[in-house]
Amino acid sequence: MKYKAILFDLDGVICNTDQFHYWAWQQIADEIGVHFDENINNRLRGVSRKESLDIILESHSPKLNEAEKEYYLNKKNDLYRGLLKQMSPADLSAEVKETMDRLKSQGILLAIGSSSKNARPILKQLGLENYFHAVSDGTNISRSKPDPEVFLKASEYLAIAPEFCLVVEDAKSGIEAALAAKMDCAAYGNGTSYNLAHYNLEKITDLLPIVLSRN
Ligand code: BG6
Ligand code: MG
Repeated sequence: MKYKAILFDLDGVICNTDQFHYWAWQQIADEIGVHFDENINNRLRGVSRKESLDIILESHSPKLNEAEKEYYLNKKNDLYRGLLKQMSPADLSAEVKETMDRLKSQGILLAIGSSSKNARPILKQLGLENYFHAVSDGTNISRSKPDPEVFLKASEYLAIAPEFCLVVEDAKSGIEAALAAKMDCAAYGNGTSYNLAHYNLEKITDLLPIVLSRN
């Protein structure tokens, strides 16, 4: 079996919370008075909350002190958590659920590999709190993507060596993290524009022929 485990990124792969992150950061950038756009937002994919603020502030002067940064980080998370409240199992797309169910039925292990500290509450709201064989997220890592830590931890939790893991990612930083972990990677959404991954998925169901034909 080539792929014994599939490690899914969460925001922008399993669910469209990447849009919520974008909207919340836009409010913060407006409040600070710093330019923010889709290209900058794409650089925040997979990156921790704190590092995301540093990227947004790259072109800003005067520099913010730690207390001011803390204020904006908390405010961004409050705005984001407010948006998450609307989410329910109906926000889990049929394609994502069907793809994961099919993989699971083949005996393949499924895990989450996300930089987010909100991953567990999101999974709960989608009705997926007990669905994955392992969850590795922002609460169990000290370095976010592109560092491989989050995926290496997921493979450790599953007890499956990296060479048997396939990562599904929408972030450039996430694809780089997968490659640094010596794992194969399937890019999705924005991730397909970098041509860095082993596979590009046009739709999430494209994962099935890739995995099942190689197993
Ligand atoms: C990643 C997102 O999944 O989680 C990033 O792609 C986000 O945009 C990061 O910054 C951290 O998320 P959170 O929920 O801990 O602020
Ligand atoms: Mg993502």
